[in-house]
Amino acid sequence: MIELETVSLRRGEALVLDRLDLTLPERRIGVIGANGSGKSSFARLLNGLLVPTEGRVRIAGLDTAVEGKAVRRRVGFVFQNPDNQIVYPTVGEDVAFGLKARNVAKGEIAARVSATLARHGLAGFEDRLVHELSGGERQMVALAGVLVSEPDLLVLDEPTTLLDLRNTRRIIEAVEASERTVVLVTHDLDLLAGFERVLCFEGGRLAADGPPAETIARYRALAA
Ligand SMILES: Nc1ncnc2c1ncn2[C@@H]1O[C@H](COP(=O)(O)OP(=O)(O)OP(=O)(O)O)[C@@H](O)[C@H]1O
Ligand SMILES: [Mg+2]
Repeated sequence: MIELETVSLRRGEALVLDRLDLTLPERRIGVIGANGSGKSSFARLLNGLLVPTEGRVRIAGLDTAVEGKAVRRRVGFVFQNPDNQIVYPTVGEDVAFGLKARNVAKGEIAARVSATLARHGLAGFEDRLVHELSGGERQMVALAGVLVSEPDLLVLDEPTTLLDLRNTRRIIEAVEASERTVVLVTHDLDLLAGFERVLCFEGGRLAADGPPAETIARYRALAA
């Protein structure tokens, strides 16, 4: 469960999010809105990467400003740009990182890494150098690196912008197959079919909040 209690966020001089009150018990939550409307800032609040200037964000009852570490253990975050996320030179090391941090037994790590890579179209990529991969391959590595540790909440910030149709489909399937809560920020409105709830941001405030068709209609009207 995600809870925002009168949350405002300032970044530099700008008021980026303005008094959001939200309770999100749903398992499939979409986030849409214009460039600069606050989507990524909202997403970053959910794993404590940003903490509110005012108000409170709670994930499974944990206050992100107080228990950031515990929150980050539960929340997997995939960035808009995979280069912000990949830290190790090889694919295998990078995907293993989250498991090592969670003290998974050494013998189990290699098997989980290779199974996760295979599931994301990256079978046998363990020793490939990340900087030699294509943009889309890097995006899939970033996603695999988060999914491998099976977080309770998965936050995806425009995970498909670099991807071809097959890998976009893989992301959709990963979301559909996941039993976890998923928050998906996207400009690709087709991805939100079947979502339970979609939020539309406009200038740091909620312009719409409801089922996909309703929120998307409002978004289109705002952009017209
Ligand atoms: N460190 C910062 N200092 C000042 N303003 C910032 C800072 N970081 C972000 N902003 C501003 O906050 C606003 C919201 O940014 P955010 O990245 O959340 O938008 P977004 O909805 O994700 O946009 P996009 O669709 O382009 O990814 C933007 O106007 C941005 O310029
Ligand atoms: Mg963004």
